[in-house]
Amino acid sequence: MLGEEHPSSWSEAMTQAILTRRPPSTVSSAAAAIAAGCRGTYTPRQRASVAELLLRRALRAGLWLPAELVATEPGRYRSRTVHVDRESGITIRVLAWRRGQHTPIHGHIAWCVIGVYAGSERELRYTTSGAGGDTRLHPSGDHVMHAGQTAVLLPPDDVHEVTCLTDDAVSIHIYGSALEPDEPSMRMEYDRSAVL
Ligand SMILES: [Fe+2]
Repeated sequence: MLGEEHPSSWSEAMTQAILTRRPPSTVSSAAAAIAAGCRGTYTPRQRASVAELLLRRALRAGLWLPAELVATEPGRYRSRTVHVDRESGITIRVLAWRRGQHTPIHGHIAWCVIGVYAGSERELRYTTSGAGGDTRLHPSGDHVMHAGQTAVLLPPDDVHEVTCLTDDAVSIHIYGSALEPDEPSMRMEYDRSAVL
């Protein structure tokens, strides 16, 4: 009889596990939740905090991105817009990287939330001094971000560069502005010679 009881209890446990497991989120459902959350806030800092919280929850709950969004290319990282919400004023893009691919040193046109979906990325941050051609960059942070981790950038303390540390990496970026598909999220790029 034990042989019959064991498969029965195992089956019930498995069934219960399946019923209580959260299904992987789709990018569209995660984007809708992030947009809805941002609509209920008042300041850029609040919107960025809500966006980060919801993105981190989605990443850790099994967010799944289809192959066409995570495909990498030689030469340069790929950025694909997956959602623009004009009511909340946010844009969500998926960036797909190969080892060593990196951004220039740059600031953004609005707040930005980064969440790593797969692989690892290194983020170097800078503070600025001076202005115009005399702008100088001071290294202020060096972070390695792994899958599931998130970060917030709030202008004017938003100057950074990102490099892919693994064979491939994918990250999700939320910007606090409704961008056209090819509109850059970068407010300004800085020459590396400006780093002190
Ligand atoms: Fe950036």
